[in-house]
Amino acid sequence: MSGPPGAGPAGPSPDALAAAALALARAGRVVVFTGAGVSAESGVPTFRGPDGLWKTCKPEDLATPVAFGRDPRLVWEWYGWRRAMVGRCRPNPAHLALAQWMLSRPGVTLVSQNVDDLHERAALATAGGAEAARRAAPVRLHGSLFHDHCTRCTYRAEARGAVDASSLAALPHCPECGGLLRPDVVWFGEVLPAPAVEAAFAAAREAEACLVIGTTGAVYPAAAVVHTAKAAGATVVVVDPGETEYDGLADVKLVGQAGAIVPLILF
Ligand code: APR
Repeated sequence: MSGPPGAGPAGPSPDALAAAALALARAGRVVVFTGAGVSAESGVPTFRGPDGLWKTCKPEDLATPVAFGRDPRLVWEWYGWRRAMVGRCRPNPAHLALAQWMLSRPGVTLVSQNVDDLHERAALATAGGAEAARRAAPVRLHGSLFHDHCTRCTYRAEARGAVDASSLAALPHCPECGGLLRPDVVWFGEVLPAPAVEAAFAAAREAEACLVIGTTGAVYPAAAVVHTAKAAGATVVVVDPGETEYDGLADVKLVGQAGAIVPLILF
């Protein structure tokens, strides 16, 4: 089987781990790009893996503005289920190693496609305080499962409670204008939040190294972050047990679970 160093069936070789660790330690500026795979070991399902969400759920029924217009109860029921499920999960060693690393050195930007809050919880658990934890917080390209925003006004707020989808009237409504609230996530066909896009691509353009963890790299425009870093000359390290869209441009591919590999390459 061809491919970058370290793509062996038995997991990453010591040489590949060392090459990745060196590239990341030497780089003054690093962009870390994460996807659903970084949270898989915490019990959060991925989207396209064997038990991925899109294997049993249709994105066109659950994750588009049209779907929400058509049946907001169905959409809220599903996000309510995801919110409760993720709320029971805990950051895993990959989240914790990343947070520890970001708090121990400058020049690392964490860009995530994930809507779970496990990066933030790892930062809080590692930094011990909200102020310090901000230094390890992710740039969120696809929004947050634990925030709602109003479909009518500019209201946006954190939301962690259970969702009652038993009737339209029972669904979450805006305390300011009475409009229907929706999960603050980016649905298919929607634009990404401009400040997050600017921060992510600015970090990619300046990166000397790019660490990619647990993403197929199939969803644009987010997936372009890694191509931008590569084009800027960054050394690209990919951590994933499966094949990804980035395998061809990776300088080092570490085949395996993020929780086992990431703590070994960050120090
Ligand atoms: N460690 C590392 N990677 C893992 C692990 C693990 N323990 N388990 C699975 N993976 C990998 C899979 O091999 C796959 O490459 O994580 C990746 C998950 O890919 P997807 O399910 O496609 O998720 P992601 O790339 O984050 O999806 C991108 O698509 O559905 C939309 O908005 C949603 O943000 C999401 C975007």
